[in-house]
Amino acid sequence: MSRPFIPSSNIARLKESATLAVAAKARALKAAGVPVIDLGAGEPDFDTPAFIRQAAAAAVEAGATRYTATEGIPALREAIAADANRLLPAGADPFTAAQVVVSNGSKQSLFNACMACFGPGDEVLVPTPSWTSYYEMLELARATAVPVMGDPANSLKVTAAILEESCTPRTRGVMLNSPCNPTGAVYTKQELEDILALADKHAWWVISDEIYLRIAYDTPATSVSQLAPARDRLILINGVAKAYAMTGWRIGWAIAPLAVSKAMIAVQSHTTSNPAAVSQHAALAALTNLSAADAAISDMVHAFHRRRDAVLNALGDAKKYALHPAGAFYLYIDVSSFGGDDPGAKFSGALLDEHQVAVVPGSAFLTPQWIRASYACADEIAVEGMQRIARLLSAGR
Ligand SMILES: Cc1ncc(COP(=O)(O)O)c(C=O)c1O
Repeated sequence: MSRPFIPSSNIARLKESATLAVAAKARALKAAGVPVIDLGAGEPDFDTPAFIRQAAAAAVEAGATRYTATEGIPALREAIAADANRLLPAGADPFTAAQVVVSNGSKQSLFNACMACFGPGDEVLVPTPSWTSYYEMLELARATAVPVMGDPANSLKVTAAILEESCTPRTRGVMLNSPCNPTGAVYTKQELEDILALADKHAWWVISDEIYLRIAYDTPATSVSQLAPARDRLILINGVAKAYAMTGWRIGWAIAPLAVSKAMIAVQSHTTSNPAAVSQHAALAALTNLSAADAAISDMVHAFHRRRDAVLNALGDAKKYALHPAGAFYLYIDVSSFGGDDPGAKFSGALLDEHQVAVVPGSAFLTPQWIRASYACADEIAVEGMQRIARLLSAGR
């Protein structure tokens, strides 16, 4: 008789990543021959630009096949610091390479930061809806994620005043993400300044996930590094996955106060060690060939922008149910008219079964009245998918 597996208390409350689960279901259906339109993935459909692929191939031939320093190769850490410094206001102290920790995707950077800064008894404010993994990472760090609902009248963004209502003496930090996954919302300078001032007043850690920073349409998105008067409680997170179409290379980074960087390196040294050497060289090429990278990013952002407008248009009358996304590549759509406890799950299930379109139910982001549809796919696929969503929405239940 086999004995049951009882998960340890470390993971007893851990939930599978809902976005990855949807992607797996869509892949299985596709493998079975069902022509699924997959609007679930949070992944650009572009190839990594050729100059980056070529630099990686050359690096392998030149011997980039061994362990590197846990925190990344020096040249890449320098390039990341230089990249961040380009945004700083005149006169601000530059970031140094020693503050940079390179990881296996910004996901690991975020995890390292949560592990380094938070622990049992600590509460961390998570503007909601937010990317699904923040809640689970905080749980893994044995801290308490405190979801703070954003304002539906303001693209589901939180304000300093809304955050302040949810804080307690145990609040230790806040997770920021602009442009935001899943809503596509972009925080204004003023909104960010107010939140930073509040965080500064309470000495909270600010973990600012800026993975979509370059993907903004209506106005450029602001990095908190452009605003923060004090940086002793600020951890910037970024990576190459989204802007450079490099999801599979798994390179992200954190830039933090030196003591925090050291703590994150210690966490990483006992979990994964360095990110893949070849991927670090690919990221180095991406960050140091500025004109080639800017041209590639501008082409991709231009395509996302065109798709953003096309998918909003494809929704027709149902557009009133969608938030206007000013960045990232997601459309967040209110499906509360489907009713029940979890209208997003009901809608997503019906959409997949009856219209062969995969989207992510909003419960993955603690907002079950919504669904997330990604438009990081070919224009005609995104448009067809949105038309089917609009049909199901107007048919109702
Ligand atoms: C908001 C947000 N942060 C971080 C990540 C992780 O990105 P990476 O591929 O760099 O680990 C994602 C990926 O979907 C994301 O949406």
